[in-house]
Amino acid sequence: MGGLGEKTLSVADVIQSRRTIFNFKLEKPEREEIEEVLAFGIWAPNHRLTEPWRFTIIGEGKKRVLAERYREIQVEKVVEYADEQQQINVGQKGYDKFMSKPVIVAVSYVKSGNDFEQREDYAATCCAIQNIQLVAWSRGIGMQWSTGPITREVETNTLLGISHEEEIIGFLYTGYPAEIPKARRKLFSELFRVTD
Ligand SMILES: Cc1cc2nc3c(=O)[nH]c(=O)nc-3n(C[C@H](O)[C@H](O)[C@H](O)COP(=O)(O)O)c2cc1C
Repeated sequence: MGGLGEKTLSVADVIQSRRTIFNFKLEKPEREEIEEVLAFGIWAPNHRLTEPWRFTIIGEGKKRVLAERYREIQVEKVVEYADEQQQINVGQKGYDKFMSKPVIVAVSYVKSGNDFEQREDYAATCCAIQNIQLVAWSRGIGMQWSTGPITREVETNTLLGISHEEEIIGFLYTGYPAEIPKARRKLFSELFRVTD
């Protein structure tokens, strides 16, 4: 499988080189390829094999509705101090930003069982998301995992036909990277200990 550029990347290389992508090229990955990548999510580890993950590719019509809501959210953030024209500009910038994400996937999990079981299912679905991000990256596709307010509003579940028994863990903004941000991490040695 071709990685970013031409060469094949090892799993370790994929893990280390993957970055969250905020700016995408206009060209959209093919639907078939997105589905192939998402399908790797189901191979995540999962206690009691509840298979709690659900994947929803957001179509263009619903994306526009969400972008309008995103516009409102951005305006709500500045409404106290921005004048009317500034609010319009901020809103338009928000709308354009949302629409610039070539493909958007909502990843949710089915909330069932007690608190601990739900926590484990949430964790498993986060593992599924990382599987997806890594396979995508190995194919030259970048993602941003977003947990912004729009992903947490009940109306978003309703709009996307996602059951209210499910909780959206994030949107995956997906496409070909236009820009790859620099990596930022502490040294592992600062975060590591051994006990006797
Ligand atoms: C659970 C989770 C939620 C995230 N939500 C957001 C978000 O709402 N907005 C955002 O810009 N990045 C979000 N990110 C991406 C992080 O900002 C990103 O992983 C971090 O900056 C490290 O960059 P890297 O992924 O390139 O290593 C999220 C990541 C995780 C794991």
